[in-house]
Amino acid sequence: MVYKEDAAQFWEDIYLEDDAGWDLGGVTPVFDNIADELNRGKVCIVGCGHGYDAVMFALKGFEVTAVDFAPSATIALESISEKENVNVQIRQSDIFCLTPKYDSVFDYVIEQACFCAINPERRKEYERLVYKILKPGGKMIGLWFPLDKTMADGGPPWGITIDEVKSIFKNSWIIEREEFPEISIQHRKNREKLIIFEKQ
Ligand SMILES: C[S@@+](CC[C@H](N)C(=O)[O-])C[C@H]1O[C@@H](n2cnc3c(N)ncnc32)[C@H](O)[C@@H]1O
Repeated sequence: MVYKEDAAQFWEDIYLEDDAGWDLGGVTPVFDNIADELNRGKVCIVGCGHGYDAVMFALKGFEVTAVDFAPSATIALESISEKENVNVQIRQSDIFCLTPKYDSVFDYVIEQACFCAINPERRKEYERLVYKILKPGGKMIGLWFPLDKTMADGGPPWGITIDEVKSIFKNSWIIEREEFPEISIQHRKNREKLIIFEKQ
């Protein structure tokens, strides 16, 4: 089955219409703080959008691969990374094509509004992808969003529940950290939850 949101053009049209309501316009404070706590390593940002966090992680000394299949997203990231004079590996690609080339490559995968962008039928496939590209002991660092939508509301973004996320990231994962961050940006407070899963 192919879903409308499987097509890069679906997302590209949203960028071209300047309708990317999810875009924070800058670095995500939660990830900015977490980056300071992590050992340096290889980061993959899936569905990176304009990529402010990709540049932030790179500026802090991480080796960053940022992946998005919408050309407007990767072009914007190229421009921001050039301006900041920082090296980010930018991949204009479907995240589901990262394996097997990137199997067991990354120490961290960063998730923000990518899980809710793919069709709910593909969520297990997404989990398998993340599992494969992480090293053993690698961490899936997710801001799981939006918690205030249901499937009946339609998507994307497709609603999520924490119970569902935990049931998908269950076998071969342990939860390292879970909280509603104090420093979520105002309009996402209590609509997103930080959960870090560690690959076993
Ligand atoms: C809701 S946006 C979030 C963007 C970014 N993470 C943010 O928070 O600003 C979803 C992004 O994921 C990208 N995307 C969706 N499905 C994808 C896929 N299968 N492969 C690569 N990128 C994908 C879209 O092009 C879009 O940029």
